[in-house]
Amino acid sequence: MGDPKSVPEAARQIFGDALPVAERYAEFLADAGVVRGLIGPREADRLWERHLINCAVLAEAVPRDAAVIDIGSGAGLPGLVLAIVRPDLSITLLEPLLRRTTFLTEAVELLGLDNVEVRRARAEEVARDYQADVVTARAVAPLDRLIGWALPLLRPGGELLALKGERAAQELTEAGPVLKRFGVRTAELHRLGQGKVEPPTTIVRVVAERVPRRAKGSRKRSS
Ligand SMILES: C[S@@+](CC[C@H](N)C(=O)[O-])C[C@H]1O[C@@H](n2cnc3c(N)ncnc32)[C@H](O)[C@@H]1O
Repeated sequence: MGDPKSVPEAARQIFGDALPVAERYAEFLADAGVVRGLIGPREADRLWERHLINCAVLAEAVPRDAAVIDIGSGAGLPGLVLAIVRPDLSITLLEPLLRRTTFLTEAVELLGLDNVEVRRARAEEVARDYQADVVTARAVAPLDRLIGWALPLLRPGGELLALKGERAAQELTEAGPVLKRFGVRTAELHRLGQGKVEPPTTIVRVVAERVPRRAKGSRKRSS
């Protein structure tokens, strides 16, 4: 197992004063996270670059004081990392699996974070409960399905920030019909953390329409 204490210089820069909290989280991931099967044993050797820094640079794209929902947090990526690096944010970690929400709740307590709520639910079940400024997600679903889950959780003008890999551009093209169905006009690729993390983190940013409008064919909410 890798030593989560060998902290790269980039992490020192990105986490700043929050670095000790990030180190505690890295230790918890490398220990309980691996033992309980939330992350693979090989990930323990590359926690900082592939996970913590990869997620922390997302903070560059999140507006101040935003209410954020992280869909499918798993072991807390990227939501818990965002909460560590950006205490101004209010973050809801949405995760359906009990084993994972238990881990997340323990992590929040261990790290002493007061800007995080853990909720056990599927994204598509809780759309009525939120008007978030930002929805984040990493490795949860193909972009077209993710858009269908995320946009109903956002306020008008809110943003989905989806961390994506090499297929980001292709997924964006494939999401054309669902973007059209939701009347989305802004859906674009960005690279974050240039010069800090190699490769930079690729995100797809999708902005919900400023005027509330329903996807064609979606059910009307009863008030
Ligand atoms: C491959 S894991 C990724 C976890 C984490 N985001 C990461 O990058 O390490 C996918 C996660 O999405 C969750 N998930 C799957 N379907 C979901 C849904 N409909 N709503 C919310 N979470 C979901 C799973 O339980 C799982 O924790």
